[in-house]
Amino acid sequence: MNDKSRELFVFSGSAHPKLARDIAEQLGVMLGNVKMEHFPDGEIFIQFLQNIRGGDVFIIQPTCYPPNENIMELLIMLDAAMRASAGRITAVIPYFGYARQDRKDKPRVAIASKLVANILTAAGADRILTMDLHAQQIMGFFDIPVDHLYAAPILYPYLRKILGENAVVVAPDSGSVKMAHAYSNALGAGLAVIAKRRTDSVSVECSHLVGDVAGRTCLIIDDLTSTAGTLVAGEQLLRKEGAKRVIASISHCLLNDLGVERLNNSGIEELVTTDSVPEITTGKTNKIKVLSIAPVMAEAIRRIHAGGSLSSLFNTSVK
Ligand code: R5P
Repeated sequence: MNDKSRELFVFSGSAHPKLARDIAEQLGVMLGNVKMEHFPDGEIFIQFLQNIRGGDVFIIQPTCYPPNENIMELLIMLDAAMRASAGRITAVIPYFGYARQDRKDKPRVAIASKLVANILTAAGADRILTMDLHAQQIMGFFDIPVDHLYAAPILYPYLRKILGENAVVVAPDSGSVKMAHAYSNALGAGLAVIAKRRTDSVSVECSHLVGDVAGRTCLIIDDLTSTAGTLVAGEQLLRKEGAKRVIASISHCLLNDLGVERLNNSGIEELVTTDSVPEITTGKTNKIKVLSIAPVMAEAIRRIHAGGSLSSLFNTSVK
């Protein structure tokens, strides 16, 4: 049976039902029916309430906060779908948690993102659809196909509107230089790079800046923000170097309360992000602009289902 002849099923885990509903709406399908419960001791119970035998099953679950619960739920959904004889199972993970633990940079630490890749595959995933991984080489941790989308084409039109002339895209650390380069090309902006050192899990030091920011609008870009330490330390250095305005653009907004407080007290004018994870900052700040990834995720699912090419969706330099 080829993939096109398989029936399409889209299911949501409990991490981000709104995004799953928006994706299903874009696809013109109903979300599938699945029972999700907890046993009194916290164990997760999953049962698909419809026949998915032979089907092309997509399970949408960003592995954001609480990551361990969301990963375990996804694993059990994959296992249940595999045992229900689904024809092909794609784990749609708009935000892939644990991605920052992608190398052994200290003695006796885990490479947790490789472990997560292994267990997703062991649980029954045949493919992965994800967006803006912390590092692209994480794709290689999987021995199944990974389709890696970018938030950039969704963000560009809005960023272009708010940046104005003479903008400069800033990589807040060495890990984001490639991404910043793509943004600067697409937005016709300059490029600057900050040297960052993490002092502990919530604090960073931004010591050096390479690039000209004086009198210019700076756009700090990154894959994610959590405590806003990176963004705020970057903003302070940019102001010291004469930046006129500082805006941030982040693919995955994991801001916790400390992050929101730091953002509110900072000179960052606006934080532009996506709905890859649920919005947990509603009512706490008016600095965040959220743009939806549902149309691009839906288009990717449509093409995967139809056996079409996704390459035009991978183009980060689309202007
Ligand atoms: C790190 O390499 C990531 O790309 C982000 O820069 C970092 O995780 C942001 O974390 P925080 O907002 O807590 O500084």
